[in-house]
Amino acid sequence: MSKSILGICGSLREGSYNRAILRAAIELAPEGMTIEESPSIGDLPLYNGDLDDQEKLGGPPPVAAFKKAIDAADALLFVTPEYNYSVPGVLKNAIDWASRPGFKSVLAHKPVFAMGASMGGTGTVRAQGHLRQVFYGVLAEVFPHGEVLVTKAQDKVEDGVLTDEGTRKFIGQALADYGEWLARF
Ligand code: FNR
Repeated sequence: MSKSILGICGSLREGSYNRAILRAAIELAPEGMTIEESPSIGDLPLYNGDLDDQEKLGGPPPVAAFKKAIDAADALLFVTPEYNYSVPGVLKNAIDWASRPGFKSVLAHKPVFAMGASMGGTGTVRAQGHLRQVFYGVLAEVFPHGEVLVTKAQDKVEDGVLTDEGTRKFIGQALADYGEWLARF
């Protein structure tokens, strides 16, 4: 059965390398998998418990739309930069909104996979470690795969398009592996 994946980009930047990776993933998705880009997490307000109705699919309109998109997807694909050795605040904010009500949210038992791109040589490895920790905290099902770490992204992306053939092949294979793993759910 075909799997629908919601792709969530951890950068709001127009020329984001991570968005370029997400768009490449959309193109490279194997047969039986479709990846759709989520509404921008930049539309979400800063998390405030006073605005949070604690309903699984509720909250301020952009929050409710984000949660509904997660709920409707079979699985998630995060593509995020690393900020100061960790997860960008804007992405953590989005996950915090989606994570309520605690342990019963749209993220609970949702399969997740993360990739990332950086301009340096570590390719977001530290952010991905922290992100996995957060995924465990929301009871997501973490794809136990080697990391997809795109280093020196500025040399691999041109005008918002991932052009590096080796990286495209690697991402295509990682998505095929994700699809095989998802078939077990
Ligand atoms: C960065 N960058 C960065 N890179 C990295 O490898 N490790 C890090 O800890 C950080 N820290 C960091 C903090 C902040 C606030 C910014 C703005 C940037 C660089 C980052 O990887 C680079 O800007 C990427 O291009 C950001 O991803 P997008 O926006 O191109 O997807």
